[in-house]
Amino acid sequence: MPDTHLTNSAIINAYVARTPGSAALHREALGMLPSGIAHDSRWMKPHPLYVDRGEGPLKWDVDGNRLVDLFGGHGSHLLGHCPPGVTVAVQAQIGKGSQFGAGHALEIEWTRLIQQMVPCAERVRFVASGTEATHMAVRLCRAFTGRKKILRFHRHYHGWHDVMAFGVDGHFDGTATPGVPDATTEGVVLLPPNDIEAVKALFERDPDIAAVILEPIGNTTGAVPIPGSFLHALRALTEAHGVLLIMDEVVTGFRLAPGGAQEARGVKADICTLAKVVAGGMPGGAVAGRKDLLDFLDFEVSAQLGREKIRHPGTYNANPVSATAGIETLKIIRDTNACGRANEAGAAMRAALNQVLAAENLPWAVYGEFSFFHIFTNPDGLDIDPLNFDAFTLPSAAFKPDPRKALGQKLYLGMVVNGVDAMGHRGGILSATHGADVIGETAEAFRATIRALKEERELV
Ligand SMILES: Cc1ncc(COP(=O)(O)O)c(C=O)c1O
Repeated sequence: MPDTHLTNSAIINAYVARTPGSAALHREALGMLPSGIAHDSRWMKPHPLYVDRGEGPLKWDVDGNRLVDLFGGHGSHLLGHCPPGVTVAVQAQIGKGSQFGAGHALEIEWTRLIQQMVPCAERVRFVASGTEATHMAVRLCRAFTGRKKILRFHRHYHGWHDVMAFGVDGHFDGTATPGVPDATTEGVVLLPPNDIEAVKALFERDPDIAAVILEPIGNTTGAVPIPGSFLHALRALTEAHGVLLIMDEVVTGFRLAPGGAQEARGVKADICTLAKVVAGGMPGGAVAGRKDLLDFLDFEVSAQLGREKIRHPGTYNANPVSATAGIETLKIIRDTNACGRANEAGAAMRAALNQVLAAENLPWAVYGEFSFFHIFTNPDGLDIDPLNFDAFTLPSAAFKPDPRKALGQKLYLGMVVNGVDAMGHRGGILSATHGADVIGETAEAFRATIRALKEERELV
């Protein structure tokens, strides 16, 4: 049943009325899964949405409601849901086997495609997720440099393993989150983003920094945007101080451009982490980088150099099904303008939503780059014009999370009621299949939701 304190909201009541199947599944799940969910981002009151199937830019929930999908499989669906060529190839591969406990030709073809597109990919090692990729990248950098510490930026998300488990949505002072040993936090330095002088000062006073890792266009696909100039300055500083640059391209890889942020921003990393698009929406990931770095995984080189190699098993590394999805997806990205189409859809979406804000006289703004959009709900009441908003001119602190929880909840649920599944209330991700029709539908859903929020006096 819905929480009683929520039922005076027409938006929430409409959501409850529209999603009885999701509510029933969630009641069942509550007795089995912590909070009834499988991923923290699905935590939603009165209940999250349960989805049955997807196709292109759309998905259908278990109650048969058709939704414009702006979640994009957490960023993995650059080609939309079930791209035909990819789906057929994956079905065929499942019929041949999903795990051989042996090498296979697909892993070589997959690697070749990655090397053709990703600037730093002299060598590639497959893993099973983005979290595993950043775990391995950090270990390689520490082993290679003999230094202990990693520099990370506030709110940048790199998966959930110990080294990455604080300083993302709290613990910006570097203290440990539950279950993380204090000793782990000693190996991490946290800084605010976009402050190159702070990075310089750190590198000058601490010779024990092995690497810096960042989301190359800003945390959560650019929610606090990082300009290309910062990335270039960071690259120069890392080179000057012998610090390795890890670009976390788990979301940006094969999305901003075939060569990810490295191509789009013209900056070459020492090593990058890949997942999501690289495996065509299936579980999988990789680290790709300089040969001398990945040589720490190489039996022969390690023996020649008389050093211990990094041990790296992993049951699902380069499994043939993910490899197939990855190969078919990367071929389409290499041979068509899929990244360009997704980026154009992102720009069209930002423009359409800002038109709605202007027409509704609401001082919010929709911003972002490439195939992403973010909704700035302006918690401090800044004097802004949605049609002339430049997120790069605001200080990073301006993008702090909006404390109005009910507003965020109702913004998300209102969009669902109007046929759009956005990424919570924060924004969304476009694919190469999002055309003018679904962008127009999203704009109308945004308008209807804003009007409903006004009626519920959430915007006063
Ligand atoms: C930038 C970034 N790095 C790493 C990860 C972790 O990837 P995974 O969820 O595959 O472990 C994510 C996941 O969203 C991510 O956005």
